Amino acid sequence: MSVTIALGMEIPDEERADAAEEQSYLRLLARLSHQSVVKHFDAYADVPWDDPAFAIDPSDPRVELAADHPLGATAWYRAQPQPIRARIGLHLAASFMRIGVSFESVLKRGLLDYAAQLPDDAPEFRYLYHEIIEEAQHSLMFHEAVSRSGLDVRPPRILGKTQHRVIGFARRFPELFFMFVLSGEDPIDWFQRRELQSPRTHHPLLERISRIHITEEARHMAFARHYLRRHVPRLRALKRFRLCAGTPVILKVASRLMMRPSSHIVKTYGIPRTVLEEAYGRGSEGQRWVQAALRKTRELCWDLGILDERWMPYWKALGIWAPRGA
Ligand SMILES: [Fe+2]
Ligand SMILES: [Fe+2]
Repeated sequence: MSVTIALGMEIPDEERADAAEEQSYLRLLARLSHQSVVKHFDAYADVPWDDPAFAIDPSDPRVELAADHPLGATAWYRAQPQPIRARIGLHLAASFMRIGVSFESVLKRGLLDYAAQLPDDAPEFRYLYHEIIEEAQHSLMFHEAVSRSGLDVRPPRILGKTQHRVIGFARRFPELFFMFVLSGEDPIDWFQRRELQSPRTHHPLLERISRIHITEEARHMAFARHYLRRHVPRLRALKRFRLCAGTPVILKVASRLMMRPSSHIVKTYGIPRTVLEEAYGRGSEGQRWVQAALRKTRELCWDLGILDERWMPYWKALGIWAPRGA
């Protein structure tokens, strides 16, 4: 089908759809960029670090793991003395923020590389720079909080080893790179929203950091999802196959990194293997958390055909599958 305009020229439906999609993409970029101007945060101006109410005490009961947290629910955790329970809770929070610093470092460098190869008049350029600036503010915020925790927090080794490869994808295979972006941003966002929705009393510093992060990450995820919806359908067969094969592995590794205690924390507190299995093994609450945290990205993959009946067993084997719409 096609429509005839006043001059008698016929515009095929396909071209009209493309033009409409282009307009909606430009509107999204303009809206996100505008939001970055009117609703953004500074790591030092917007967090009252030196307010005594924001001070971090590793034995503060407000940093203990909640009773419905996969590890917090175990009998082993509940049997620990209160200062240790609090210390483990704070150590986990600090470790996730340290992982956030490493993850955002890869992300920023990838986005810079991606922006560098765009033509000068690319509409994405401005938005990408807003995102890079926001990620830099997040990293400053996380870094300050980790150092104020006073705990020994180690950087994630796997990101150190794979960073250059992932950054390279931003230029050579941006669809896979933006899947990597979502693999980290979605689980953190899910966890931070869940924490804030719980009725327990939160530590004001952790709450402030989460609120700032949630607000700005909503823009980053909106862009990544839109980018994937726009570009994945245009991929050639081989790259599409690589995206189908690579995505579940990236989601598995990133969600594990973002949601399970690091090996350093396991060693520091002597968390028994059986407790880890109970909290994070097959059929555990930890596995349900991962499946829930990946819901939005998984639904996107269904929509894009990155996940279908053929790839489902692979997702199931990795423990990241859940029925569509669940
Ligand atoms: Fe961030
Ligand atoms: Fe982000």
